[in-house]
Amino acid sequence: MSTPLSLELDSVTLAEQYDRLGTRQFHHGLELIDVLAVQSGEKVLDIGCGTGLLTEAVAERTGPDGEVLGIDPLALRVELARKRAQGRFDARVGRAEALHDVPDAHYDVVYFNSVIHWVPDQLAALQHAFRVLKPGGRAGFTTMSQEAPHDLHRVLRALLAREPHWQAARVGAPHQLTQERAALLLAAAGFNVTHNEIREFDDAFDTVDEVIAFSRASSFGNFLSALDEAEGARVRQLLGDALEAKRGPRGIALKRRMTFATGRKPAAQ
Ligand SMILES: C[S@@+](CC[C@H](N)C(=O)[O-])C[C@H]1O[C@@H](n2cnc3c(N)ncnc32)[C@H](O)[C@@H]1O
Repeated sequence: MSTPLSLELDSVTLAEQYDRLGTRQFHHGLELIDVLAVQSGEKVLDIGCGTGLLTEAVAERTGPDGEVLGIDPLALRVELARKRAQGRFDARVGRAEALHDVPDAHYDVVYFNSVIHWVPDQLAALQHAFRVLKPGGRAGFTTMSQEAPHDLHRVLRALLAREPHWQAARVGAPHQLTQERAALLLAAAGFNVTHNEIREFDDAFDTVDEVIAFSRASSFGNFLSALDEAEGARVRQLLGDALEAKRGPRGIALKRRMTFATGRKPAAQ
């Protein structure tokens, strides 16, 4: 059993690192925005916006007649998002399962990019998304695929299996979804499922330290946080050896697989 997820481990350093290394999530997020066909003038809600890299790109797309709000529980990341926004979008602290201050039927599009696998009550999050969408509005998420793990997670899982007391360490996110579960959740929240596929991404990292920094920043400090200093160092050393074996011409090559799922709120009868 891995330790529970904490939202208290974030730091200025991790938030800044995410801003630099989260370009991987940014790039697949742009693909989600394409699948959702976000248009100029639309109102968009970005749930789990992090430091606002994708939120900013969406605000560029919706333009001056659009409206974009990012919500994230991590205050340090929201601060960076607000700095980035410069009035072009808004960002505030909040959680996917508790969007009580967001009005009903206001948005054209709601999305969660690399977020829903961290959310304990995913149905509540999607029900909120449904509520705040206009009739006919679109929702979508990308999530780590339970049936198609990232290369890094495969390597790490094999490594952690060596020692019983390493089992407490988290691999990936706690609430990863299968494609089937992604569709069931969208339907249970009231959506007609419009898209459901797994896409693969080829990542390349210059160093093992960069892989580890990316994993820590993406998990807001939860990556290997269950291990004490000495055990953590040992696992990082072993992980480094395993990852160096994957070095190719572009650097350390790791594939990531993400489920892309979208749904439409039925139009008003
Ligand atoms: C990997 S980051 C993705 C950030 C951003 N969406 C992007 O595409 O770069 C995951 C984000 O999920 C947020 N998150 C975690 N639990 C959440 C929750 N319960 N509700 C909303 N966001 C959550 C984290 O704070 C973090 O910013």
